[in-house]
Parts: sequence; structure tokens; C-alpha cells
Amino acid sequence: MTTTDLTRPQVDAAPKSSLPPHDVTDLGLAAAGVTRIEWAEREMPVLRLIRERFEAEKPLQGLRVGACLHVTTETANLMRTLKAGGAEIALCASNLLSTQDDVAAALVAEYGISVFARRGVDRDGFYSHLNAVADTHPHLTQDDGCDLVSLLHRERTDALDGVLAGTEETTTGIIRLRAMAADGALKYPVVGVNEAKTKHMFDNRYGTGQSTVDGILRATNILLSGRHVVVAGYGWVGKGIASRMRGMGAQVAVVEVDPIAAIEAFMEGYQVMSGMDAAAWGEVFITATGNLHVFRRQHFERMNNGAIMANSGHFDAEIDLVALNELAGGRVRQLRRDVKEYDMGDRRLYVIADGRLVNLAAAEGHPAAVMDMSFANQALAAEYGAKNHASLGAGVHIMPDEIDREVARLKLEALNITIDTMTPEQAKYVASWQEGT
Ligand SMILES: NC(=O)c1ccc[n+]([C@@H]2O[C@H](COP(=O)([O-])OP(=O)(O)OC[C@H]3O[C@@H](n4cnc5c(N)ncnc54)[C@H](O)[C@@H]3O)[C@@H](O)[C@H]2O)c1
Repeated sequence: MTTTDLTRPQVDAAPKSSLPPHDVTDLGLAAAGVTRIEWAEREMPVLRLIRERFEAEKPLQGLRVGACLHVTTETANLMRTLKAGGAEIALCASNLLSTQDDVAAALVAEYGISVFARRGVDRDGFYSHLNAVADTHPHLTQDDGCDLVSLLHRERTDALDGVLAGTEETTTGIIRLRAMAADGALKYPVVGVNEAKTKHMFDNRYGTGQSTVDGILRATNILLSGRHVVVAGYGWVGKGIASRMRGMGAQVAVVEVDPIAAIEAFMEGYQVMSGMDAAAWGEVFITATGNLHVFRRQHFERMNNGAIMANSGHFDAEIDLVALNELAGGRVRQLRRDVKEYDMGDRRLYVIADGRLVNLAAAEGHPAAVMDMSFANQALAAEYGAKNHASLGAGVHIMPDEIDREVARLKLEALNITIDTMTPEQAKYVASWQEGT
């Protein structure tokens, strides 16, 4: 990788003559999308460096990429990078509510990239968009939650043979892929981007931590200071949410099923309690487990009047909305754009963004500065998968540690931070076993 000015934004030449295939809400939003994409790009110097190298080396020349990712400003900059590398791209959304319509329009109208995504699409629309991407018979897939891989293996096997490799962005997707691999069902190599340290330790923790607070505030505008906030799941995402909520002055309790995560949360200074105790204690409830029905009927029956629930895990399965709806006897009101009220007779409970990823549905997702590292990994994983698919074989793969460290090194360089290197004496010392007390 060559060094370059890390702060200078760059704008692609806009290919406006003919538009690529698309289904977006309103192409008239494209100009607004472009300025927001440029704004994000200012915070993505590592991805920009990769784009410059891709432009010169064209590592994805002749390859079709099918991507199922949240259609945000940061994803737009990833798509520009893959295109610079020579790829032909079709992009659809990985969630019904996360699409930023102006970004979808800008990608089509200004950057010449095929997009099938509309915010608020229903489930059928979501799958028709996913199928439109499968129709392009991609050589490489990019997923955030494994929906494209899953479709190709279950219903669109006609498009499966041509796939060389894939990449997966999130924890839940990796869990699904590993389950497929264990069943012998996974037919091509997938690079687990989430497994890179420069992804999950930063994106899941600091990205989701901040943007979850952002989503809850935009949706509700409540005061967090002093409030009882329950975080279910103390993995990378839960750690970030708990620490950012504490930073806002909230009192935080953690609900866990893993004893190690629970003791870690306790030693970090949080209260740790069962879901049932938390139901009676909490005022705001946030799930971040990747699991099913973390808050369910028994918890809803205990929650206090005014309790607000939100989810930051990948799927909208963490809060049992069917049970909540039943308990409310269907008395449900849309109170604000992203807040629904469930009238339980004696109490009212609230759910943000129908239990879908609150940071993407009610806010704009992670800040670009953290997605810079995640999407640097995505771009490098696409290149790695394209180059090495034959030797990798079907299964979930982790990128080499050198690539992870290179992403961190470039990020430090962009931040103008210098770190030390070991002296030869130190390098020898840490590699030896002879020296001791
Ligand atoms: N909102 C976003 O932008 C975003 C970003 C990254 C990851 N995610 C998603 O967030 C979820 C969590 O990701 P992670 O990286 O923190 O995973 P993780 O595996 O590091 O942590 C999950 C934690 O949840 C706990 N858990 C599981 N079931 C539970 C239950 N019933 N009650 C309480 N705790 C339970 C586990 O013990 C674990 O500690 C995943 O679905 C992931 O895909 C979302």
C-alpha cells in the first residue's frame, strides 16, 4: 500500500449516461446522498488508501460482487472501493429498516452501482431485492447476517455454482455460517470479517455502543442521566452499550447467561441480575445477545409502566413482539416515528423500531471512523477470497493476522499516532524461555 494524504476527500467521476438496474425509493434524493457519502468518506482514510491501491491494481477485475449490507453512507464508500478494484456490483439491504434512501439513490445515479433497497420495504420486497442480487450470479458475496448465502444455498442453487467466495460482517452471520459448515451444507469459502480484531473489538463495541445511544435518543429524546438501563448480553456489543450508557449518567445492570461475561460485567462495576429481577428494576431495556426472546411474556408482565425496549442484536427476534402484542390485546399505537406503545391495561410499554437494530433503524448506524476499519477488512477480505478461494475450500475462514495488523497500522497512521517498536534486546527477551526470576 502506498502512503498518501490521509485527510483529502475524493469524489468519483459520476457516470450519469445510463443507469444500472435498480429499485430505490426516489432517485431525486441522489444529490443529498452524495454529500452525506462524501462527509462519511472524510472519516474513512484507511478505506480510501485501499481504494487508491485497488484503482491501480484492479484485484477484482471481471468479478461480479453480490452484496447484502446495510445501505448507509459507509457502505457506499465500500461499494466505491470494490468498483475501483474492477468489480461489477449489485447491492441489496440486509434489514427492512436500515436503508438510507438518499444513499441508495446516489449509488445508482451518481456512482453507477446497481442497488435494490428501499427503507421500510416489507418482507416480500426484501426477498425480491435479495433475489435481484442472486439474479446477477455473483462471483463474490458479501453478507451482514448471512441472508444472501442462505438464499443461495436454499432457494437459488442455480446461482450457487459460480460463487468463488464470500465475506460475512457480523457475529450472528458467522454463527449461522458455522452451523452450515458443521452440517456440511456450506458450499464455498466465506471470510469471517467479524473475526478480525480490527472489526469486532471496535465496530461492535465502540460503534454499536455510541450508535445505540444515538438511536434511542433520536427515537425517544429521553433523559438518560440517572435512568435504570438494562443491557442483555455482555459480549462486544453489550460492553460498548453498557459503557456508553454509563457515560451518559445512566445506572446500568447487565443480564447474562455466560458466567464469565457476567463476572466481567460485575468487576467492571455494573449490577448483574437475572432477567426477571431486571424486568422489575429497569426503565430502558436493550438486547444485544444474538439470541431469541430474551425479553418475553414473563418479563413484560413484570415491567413497570413506561418501560422502553430496544434491540441492537442482528435480528428482530430478541424481544418477543408476538407475546407483547397478545398481552396488549392488539392495543398498539405508533406514538412517534420509531416508537410503538403497547397498552397493557394497567401499564404502557414501549418498543423502538419494532425491535429491529435500533442504531440503524432509528439513527444512522455506526460512525464512519469505526466503519473505516470494518470496511477496510471487508474490501481486503473480498480481495483475499478472490485470490485464495481455490486453496481455502468451503468453510468459514479468518483473514491472516498480518492483514488485521495492517488495518490497525494504517488507522494509527491516519490518526497521526506513533507507537514504539521493540528493541532487538526486548524481541530476544520475549522470545526466550531461559530468563526468569
Ligand atoms: N447493531 C449493530 O450494528 C451490530 C453490530 C455488531 C454486531 N451486532 C449483533 O449484535 C449481537 C451481539 O454481537 P456480539 O458481537 O456482542 O456477540 P457476542 O457473542 O460477543 O456476545 C453475545 C453475548 O450475549 C450473551 N447471551 C446469549 N444469550 C443470552 C440471553 N438469553 N440472555 C442474556 N445474554 C445472552 C452471550 O453469553 C454473550 O456474552 C449479534 O446479533 C451481532 O450480529 C449488531
